[in-house]
Amino acid sequence: VLERAARAAEKLGAPAYLVGGCVRDRLLGIPVKDVDIAVEGSVEPLLEGLKAAGAETFDRFGTARLTFPGGLRVDFARTRKEVYPSPGSLPVVSPADIHSDLYRRDFSINAMAQPLIDKGGGLLDPFGGRTHLKKGELHILHDGSFVDDPTRIYRAARFAARFDLRLAGNTREALDAAVRSGTPKTVSRERLREELLRILDEKEPSKALGLLRDWGALDFIRPGLKWTHADFESPDRWTRLGLLAFKLGRNGPPFLESLRLEHGLRRDLEHPIELAERREAPKEPLSKLSLGVIRRALPGLPAAALKPPLAGGAELMKLGLEPGPKFGKLLHELSKAQWSGKVKTPSQARAFLKNIL
Ligand code: CTP
Repeated sequence: VLERAARAAEKLGAPAYLVGGCVRDRLLGIPVKDVDIAVEGSVEPLLEGLKAAGAETFDRFGTARLTFPGGLRVDFARTRKEVYPSPGSLPVVSPADIHSDLYRRDFSINAMAQPLIDKGGGLLDPFGGRTHLKKGELHILHDGSFVDDPTRIYRAARFAARFDLRLAGNTREALDAAVRSGTPKTVSRERLREELLRILDEKEPSKALGLLRDWGALDFIRPGLKWTHADFESPDRWTRLGLLAFKLGRNGPPFLESLRLEHGLRRDLEHPIELAERREAPKEPLSKLSLGVIRRALPGLPAAALKPPLAGGAELMKLGLEPGPKFGKLLHELSKAQWSGKVKTPSQARAFLKNIL
């Protein structure tokens, strides 16, 4: 695909480059999952010969994505410059050359470009990203970087943790100043949520979260977040988020609400918190996600604590009770007994109901 894209770009006189994370990862010898290609010109003609390679989608900025069965993604975008009308807002973009495109980026290690057809110039590395990678340093490209885009504070933690980098002096100063002046508040909750989720997708999120806490930036996501390494044993981002919320207790549901999650997802993550607060088994079967969260949050819970009532209306009627408000009350008692471990099996549940009756 890269060769065909390169040849097409050459024919069109529109130089094309590998850019961003894939260049960084190649230099580090890390397998690349997502490939970004920046084109100094329109993307569409470049894709003409590539249609067979996979699905493609365009957005209104003329970007395109090819997806492959193994999960590899190749994104094409026109080289652009960005202007931030106000701190934390989304940038206004306009076409520009590769140099401006590199300058609009977050860190020197992410601001390198490899021409698809190398005419002898080799890697474009105007900010010294390759050396910084070798030295283990994270550098912003200009002092206003974190104010323009405060999500970079969270990205800094992610990259510093993942590649074991330290923040260069000026970068740390700019970051501290941006946090002190509260710039993360200028970012929408949805964007902050996405940054948190991307941290939760990391192999080991503890280190990035710890850095953010040390920098005073975690409070903008939610004050009082707590975690242990064990909370991240499941690789699933939602289970991990559920555990962060669970540890907040009563503050968990408002935290989840503040993240503006899709309704069903929020429900699944709130459910374990509610059950633990009420100390009772669920009325309905728990979703896989709710189960995953609560089992990890409270590993000692008896299995019956996570099951709907082990006896129900049919049993109560067999015991001679007429359906009515008492039903609900009795089943509620049963849920509590299941939670506490007093009732473990359907026969114990029947005996329990008979006993109270
Ligand atoms: N980028 C940026 N500022 C942002 C987001 C992205 O400058 N707030 C630029 C960086 O050059 C980055 C590239 O866009 O390398 C692609 O963004 P993304 O896919 O988020 O980053 P990756 O570096 O590919 O990170 P990852 O390895 O986590 O996918």
